[in-house]
Amino acid sequence: MASAELIKRLEDTIENIPDFPIPGIQFKDISPIFLDPKLYEDVITDLAAKSKGKVDAVCGIESRGYLFGIAIAVALEVPFILIRKAGKLPPPVISEKYDLEYGSAIIETREGQIKPGQRVLIHDDLLATGGTTEAAAKLVEKQGATVSQFSFLIGLKGLNGDEKLKKFGAEVYHILEY
Ligand code: PRP
Ligand code: MG
Repeated sequence: MASAELIKRLEDTIENIPDFPIPGIQFKDISPIFLDPKLYEDVITDLAAKSKGKVDAVCGIESRGYLFGIAIAVALEVPFILIRKAGKLPPPVISEKYDLEYGSAIIETREGQIKPGQRVLIHDDLLATGGTTEAAAKLVEKQGATVSQFSFLIGLKGLNGDEKLKKFGAEVYHILEY
């Protein structure tokens, strides 16, 4: 678990925006973290410490998963692999479709960048329903690798995101929980 001091600094920094992007949703704006380089550095140190020596690669999910994911991979001295929304990466790609509240979406990764047998950390800024992360984990497994950890800056309680990830048998870590 992250230190109470780091949790407090993050809680004081992240902005809660009511009714965005739609009425009834409280948006967590993480952008003020990037105005404070020391706070950002401490977040990366915390997230990287959790995975030190336990993963061979980090996958980050477009777009907010890149904000911390690349820095975690650099700190761990392991490769970083982009998981992107459909149509952005050149072929050959591996794709995975998943359900949204209304409709569906597809995420993709370049074929061959995740290596069979690798222990992979999947990182994103936020775990909500878990749909996005579940699809990312399926992409990793399709390539013969194993998801060994999931990490998030924020986990939202009450949406059962953790439940969706249980089947992968990986550790789930978030610094903050709302
Ligand atoms: C948000 C967030 C997570 C995802 C969580 O991304 O950054 O990636 O939703 O939702 P879920 O657990 O219900 O799947 P979004 O798709 O809004 O895009 P962005 O990261 O590009 O801002
Ligand atoms: Mg996202």
